[in-house]
Amino acid sequence: MQPVFETQRLILLPRTLADTDDCLAMDNDPEVTRFVVGPWGDRLKLRAFVESRTLANYPAGMGYWTIRFRADPTEFLGWILLIPADASGPEIEIGWRLPRKAWGAGIATEAARPVLQHAFARLELPEVVAEIDARNVGSMRVAEKLGLMRRGEVGHEGAVSVRYTVLRPR
Ligand SMILES: CC(C)(COP(=O)(O)OP(=O)(O)OC[C@H]1O[C@@H](n2cnc3c(N)ncnc32)[C@H](O)[C@@H]1OP(=O)(O)O)[C@@H](O)C(=O)NCCC(=O)NCCS
Repeated sequence: MQPVFETQRLILLPRTLADTDDCLAMDNDPEVTRFVVGPWGDRLKLRAFVESRTLANYPAGMGYWTIRFRADPTEFLGWILLIPADASGPEIEIGWRLPRKAWGAGIATEAARPVLQHAFARLELPEVVAEIDARNVGSMRVAEKLGLMRRGEVGHEGAVSVRYTVLRPR
């Protein structure tokens, strides 16, 4: 079971198929997917991908969380994920994606914090990783604010990604 998280401003709810259209609208903005690999531009494939990621059978306590304001939960503010890397593992990755209107207000960092804490305190994971395009300065800053550390770079389809990791605090 994925828990619900609340922060000062936000509520994080397990993603459901009812969030699909909001996810697709977000993913159809090329600025949002600029540094992310995915089936962008193919509407049918993208819908199938988003739905399959929502319905996948992740390990207990993992998955995607939809972010909303506690004060106005009607507005879709994106998602946080905690899943096996590339949905296969064995490493567990954390990730974030917000619609452009929600950028620049500290929402990604605030939303990811309780998910990371859950990964260590409740799931007792030894380590959480992230892989971020080296040009994606905003996302790397989120990772660093959360305490993730750079541990190297990898080449991917002509782009360079930075690998980040954070170990369970002792
Ligand atoms: C990356 C993303 C999640 C950040 O969301 P956000 O809510 O704006 O992030 P936060 O406000 O919590 O933190 C962003 C930090 O990066 C900084 N930042 C953002 N863009 C920047 C840029 N181009 N150059 C330098 N710093 C930048 C912000 O100033 C902030 O740092 P600060 O708190 O020290 O000022 C959002 O831009 C997004 O969804 N992008 C598209 C999807 C994506 O790339 N996801 C990550 C894939 S790895």
